[in-house]
Amino acid sequence: METNELKKAFQEAYKHEATAVYFSPGRVNLIGEHTDYNGGYVFPCALSFGTYLLLAKNEDKLMRFKSLNMPEVTELALTELTTPLPKNHWVNYPLGCIAQFIKRGYELKEGYDILIWGNVPAGAGLSSSAALEVVTAYAVNELLSAGLDRTELAKIGQASEHEFAGVNCGIMDQFASAQGKKDHAIFLNCDTMEFQLVPVKLEGIKVVISNTHSPHKLDSGAYNERVAQCQLALEQLRKVRPELKNLAELTEAEFEKIENAITDETAHKRARHVVGEVQRTTDAVAALQKGDIATFGKLMCQSHVSLRDDYEVTGLHLDTLAEEAWKLPGVIGSRMTGGGFGGCTVSLVKDEAIPEFIEKVGKVYQEKTGIKADFYIAQISDGARRIE
Ligand code: GLA
Repeated sequence: METNELKKAFQEAYKHEATAVYFSPGRVNLIGEHTDYNGGYVFPCALSFGTYLLLAKNEDKLMRFKSLNMPEVTELALTELTTPLPKNHWVNYPLGCIAQFIKRGYELKEGYDILIWGNVPAGAGLSSSAALEVVTAYAVNELLSAGLDRTELAKIGQASEHEFAGVNCGIMDQFASAQGKKDHAIFLNCDTMEFQLVPVKLEGIKVVISNTHSPHKLDSGAYNERVAQCQLALEQLRKVRPELKNLAELTEAEFEKIENAITDETAHKRARHVVGEVQRTTDAVAALQKGDIATFGKLMCQSHVSLRDDYEVTGLHLDTLAEEAWKLPGVIGSRMTGGGFGGCTVSLVKDEAIPEFIEKVGKVYQEKTGIKADFYIAQISDGARRIE
């Protein structure tokens, strides 16, 4: 939808004009999975699709939320902005962000009519919820003249996800949505929040996203379970390394020396993934900076194997897409991206091999799962912004 159509839809819904239009993108992570909440590195980039937010002040001292994907309008008094709505209500994502501002001492004195529209494929694990959180945080930051920087806006989005959606996520998705830059990936240290924007200049190669159309069940508890298993591994390692702050601090060699302290077999596998993934992410970024795209691709494949075998967040859908991709000579690398369990893979594919990639991977995938996959060429884009 064009901005003009969105403004028309706003006018139809609220009978007055929108005074501002904001946008914040979804993301794809190139490598560094399930490392963020362990204080490790991630390497995501912002996409061209995301969530739009239009607003205008009203005279009723009410906050009204409408999504173009839903029929109803949700109306809340200014005194009701710190209490979550029932579980799984979509308004919890923006509401949770507004609540964070209030928690920090800011006060919304006026009511606003808000219209949301998103074009991130739903349930694809490309962070439609982070896009909704960050676009809200960005807009509210302006309304309140709060002056918070983009990293703070990402933290507000993450806190909303924890407190209003019940997912104990890391910072990656909200950070990528807030800090993304066209044609760059973000090499972020999730412990210190220091980051570097690394150009993704791929001569004759595209970033291809393949959608399993098998919903990623992030709220199903499997994600929070992984977070808890990593915490258990960390606690057990602290018996021999009391000063250990997080799993990502350990090199692979250090981990090997003390891994026996983890008595829980599952927690041990989860920790082994995290330690290896942090190393792979560092190596992959170094390879990309040297123009060694082949090594980058190999590390992507190794990342998938570790997520499949040690972290156990892949399954038939993601494995089929990745493993079929690996068979094709024009594929530099392919792996699951995001939380897992469903959602998407990300692949680096040579331009001339893309039609064959879509045809062959799509065909085997449909034979094995009965589902038609979708393929998108990623356009790496800028982070949150005001459009009008
Ligand atoms: C989800 C979470 C992120 C991150 C990824 C896995 O997208 O929201 O914080 O943990 O899974 O890397």
